[in-house]
Amino acid sequence: MSLHSATTSLSSLISPDIAAHPPQNAAPLKLGVMASGSGSNFEAIAQAIADQKLNAQVNVLLYNNPGAKAAARADRWGIPAILLNHREFASREALDGAIVETLQQHEVEWVIMAGWMRIVTPILINAFPRRILNIHPSLLPSFKGNRAVEQALAAGVKITGCTVHLVVPDVDSGDIIMQAAVPVLPDDTLETLHDRIHVQEHRIFPQAIALAASQLSNE
Ligand code: GRF
Repeated sequence: MSLHSATTSLSSLISPDIAAHPPQNAAPLKLGVMASGSGSNFEAIAQAIADQKLNAQVNVLLYNNPGAKAAARADRWGIPAILLNHREFASREALDGAIVETLQQHEVEWVIMAGWMRIVTPILINAFPRRILNIHPSLLPSFKGNRAVEQALAAGVKITGCTVHLVVPDVDSGDIIMQAAVPVLPDDTLETLHDRIHVQEHRIFPQAIALAASQLSNE
């Protein structure tokens, strides 16, 4: 078996490809996406929607770093991008209050943290109970927090991956919705490994949003 097919089957085992959800004739999920940097996961979600693999709409992109590439991606998709620069807020709670207000103004139902590099507070979490998803570049509960890919390399694990989970006050600790595995290769660098994790993130994040909505919407 080639490494490529081994990688594919390993990932499929843990998170099989699933059909489009919710059904295209149901009301689209109203998403608000939060991103701090490149926004490639945001773009994968927008693309999955355009490809009718995810029945949703992105009502707004929030970003906290001026010049974040995510904002330029939003412009290209015609999605409103709003800067909430954390440096201009007195506290995490003040920032989160502004985030909640903006998400509510845009009638967001599901909050998608796609590379949001700030710790969030109960102000945000309690405004969208069990409706906030985050993606993390490890197989949680291994390698929580910053530098998860670096931590995996340093630990010498042979398999790492990515996790989509519900956001709770403890960082990287909420219920796991979906995971994909990525083998660590002998000559991997931080960049090569993170690139392969990104491929799996882009694959599972839209699926995980659909799965969470179908499993949790009746709560
Ligand atoms: C991803 O690896 C995600 O797991 C982590 O931050 C990165 C964001 O990448 N939380 P991008 O901005 O979506 O390209």
